[in-house]
This record gives sequence, structure tokens and C-alpha cells, in this order.
Amino acid sequence: MTEHKIINGFSKFDRTQKIQWLIEQFHLDAETQAFLDSFQLTNQQWQAVIADLSENQLSNFHLPFSVAPNFLVDGQTQVFPLVTEESSVVAALAKAAGFWAKRGGFKSEIIGTQKKGQLHFSWNGQPQKLRKAFPEIKQKLLKEAEPLTQNMEKRGGGIRAIELKELPEILPNYYQLDVAFETCDAMGANFINSCLEQFGRSMKDWADTAPELLPEEQGLEVIMAILSNYVPDSRVRVWVECPVEELADEREEAYAFAEKFVRAVRIAREDVSRAVTHNKGIFNGIDALAMATGNDFRAIEAGAHAYAAQQGQYRGLTEAWIDQGKFWFQLEIPLAVGVVGGVTSLHPLAKLSMQILGNPSAKELMAYLAVAGLASNWSAVRALVTTGIQQGHMKMHLSNILNSFQVSDEQKESARLYFQDREVSFAEVKKFLEKHV
Ligand code: MEV
Repeated sequence: MTEHKIINGFSKFDRTQKIQWLIEQFHLDAETQAFLDSFQLTNQQWQAVIADLSENQLSNFHLPFSVAPNFLVDGQTQVFPLVTEESSVVAALAKAAGFWAKRGGFKSEIIGTQKKGQLHFSWNGQPQKLRKAFPEIKQKLLKEAEPLTQNMEKRGGGIRAIELKELPEILPNYYQLDVAFETCDAMGANFINSCLEQFGRSMKDWADTAPELLPEEQGLEVIMAILSNYVPDSRVRVWVECPVEELADEREEAYAFAEKFVRAVRIAREDVSRAVTHNKGIFNGIDALAMATGNDFRAIEAGAHAYAAQQGQYRGLTEAWIDQGKFWFQLEIPLAVGVVGGVTSLHPLAKLSMQILGNPSAKELMAYLAVAGLASNWSAVRALVTTGIQQGHMKMHLSNILNSFQVSDEQKESARLYFQDREVSFAEVKKFLEKHV
């Protein structure tokens, strides 16, 4: 391991100084500066936007910006912009989109759009006094948050409910305000956190001044005020359905496939080890679309994983069944996303993604994200219960290996033919290329 000195004030260095420091500390090649420069954008305006997204930016880390066409969602065709490092994801999505476009496409239903936040505080007083005063306190909270909520209310959003929770089983004297918000087309993180911090000030003010409190009951400590990424009330359901016969050319084959698919999805509902991988396949699609649209995929994942475990056991998020000769496959998932503000409005490619999607509302984007999740899960499980996953993966893997060797188009083509029915590995591809220069 390379040891390096603790450095103070690193963030004050300019970009070149930071790179020089790294070169010295890690004895990097002198070319490192030029190497990092080569990934910077030539368009200064966009480069400044990207650089400002993070502290200590040295260069840009590229990932492919791709599209998967032919998504039919609620009767409208869509092209999904996608950003992912996993080579099979876009191909899997495009394949699922094409398959389902011929069978009625994806349908969606928004179940709710409410988001949550919490004020965590401790107060050393008679709980019944707080309980009794709470209806009045609630009015105070809403009134004092008005400067923050006015604009959101004009857009149809705002604070929807405030619940006081007494939780001495977690900590002595510990309480929560559990608050429901509607944030319309915004992700709403700033709005929610500002309201909660204001609630903290208002609660403190109540405890400092309420005449019914004894001197020893005065004072309240705000522990923290923060939105929750657990958003079960901001939820969407998406599904596909078709007669079982339409799943394959032969009737018998179609039924056998449908039943095996349903069994595979059922295993993921019941078995934790399988559920985690199954859901990972769902997030292959969701994260790629979330990244392309500048949404926070960690927030989406954290909320959805908690939802997958809401019954006390972590389960697969999709369900599949056959009913009266029809095959159904659906995903119900909590999603809190924004289409205004944040990275979505800043990053030039996120803006383009939104344009490609027809500048959707937050509800529409919720549906598209869930569709991307269902589509990638469809392709993964379909491959797993038929050919196995390696066939598709290996094709992509071969491309990646070939690219790492900088070979000609003819060499690539002959390698593809050669490896059609052979095991792909780095060593085998290298051997092949040495023989076929
Ligand atoms: C690979 O990225 C995702 C899969 O493992 C998902 C699954 O097993 O369902 C193929």
C-alpha cells in the first residue's frame, strides 16, 4: 500500500496543483496530467458544469450514453436513454422492449406520490402535555413554515400530514415528527429538509415558551431533521400481459416457458439469496435510466430495498402468474424522482435524456423507471430459464476483450465467428489473435 502524508487545505488547490500532488504522492507517470486533461471536455461551459457537480474534480470519468428504442408504455412509444457500465444491460432492455411492443407493451399505474421526512428530537417533559398541545403546535409548525411552503402550494404540493410519534422504546425522551410531503415534479429534497429544519426551530420555540411547561420541562433538543428515502407511499405498478401462446412459437413450448418463468419469479419472492440477485437485475435497468436522467440512484435503491424487506424478509420485487390462459408479469416499486431542479436540469446529457423522453412529468418518469426495471428483469429471467445467462454475457464480454486489444474489424469478425460456440476467456482470445494477425 502506498503511504501518503495527510494534507490540509487540499480543496483550496487548483485542479493542476491537485494533479501534481497526486503525481508526487503516488509516483505517477508525468504523463498523468495530459492523460487526465484528455478526458476533459473542450466545451468550457459544459466542463464547468460537470466540474461543479463535485469537489476536487480532476477529470471526467466516462461511461457510455446509450439508448434502447421501442418501449411501448401506456400506448406511447418511447426511447429510453441509458447510462451503465455493464455491457449486456442496454441490449437486454432493447430486446425486452421489442418483444413486448408486439404484445401490447407496458402499462402503468401510479399508486401514490407522497414523500416522507422526519424531525427527530428529545424532550424531557410529561408526554401527555405534548400530546395535548400538539393540535396547536401543528398550526404553529404550518404557519412558521409558510414562507417555505407557499411556492410549493401554488404548484399543488406542500405538507400533507404531520404525525407525532413517541418512541421511548428506541431512546428515553425520544420523539419524532413524521411528515408527509407532496413535491410535484421536484425530487424535493431541499424543500423537505428546509421545512423539517424550520419545524425543529418551531418545536424548540414551543418548548422554551409554552406556559403549561414547568421550568424543568423547558428546552428541547433537535437530534436531526432529514427526509426519508423510504417512500412506500410514492409507488408505481407496471406490468405486461399477453396470452400464454404468444410467448413462443409452439403452444407447448410457450406454456412450458411461462410456467418455468413463473416458478423462477416465485423462487425470488421466497429465497433471499436469489431475491438479491433478482432485484439487482431489476436495478440494472432502473439505475441506467436514473443515471441518464440525473436522478439519485442510491436513494432509489435504498428505498426500494427497504420496501422489498417490508414484511420482515427480503423478497424479489416482481411477480408473475398465469390466469385463464394469460401470462402476467409485474413490478410494484416505491420511487421518488424529480424532473425539475438538481442534476436533471444542470447536466447537459441529463437534459438531453429528458428531451428524448418527451420532458416527462415526475409521474411519467416513475413509470418509465419501473418499466426499465421490469424489462431488464424480464430479459434476465427469460435468459436464465432458457439459454442461461452466459450466452448473451459472453458475446458482450468478447467485444470488451477484443476492444482491449485494438484489433481490426476483420479480426473482430473472425473472432466472433470462431467464439460462437467456444468458451470465451481473455487467454483464449489472446491466443486466437496471436494466430490470426
Ligand atoms: C446481472 O447483472 C444480473 C442478473 O444476475 C440478474 C438475475 O440473475 O436475475 C442476470
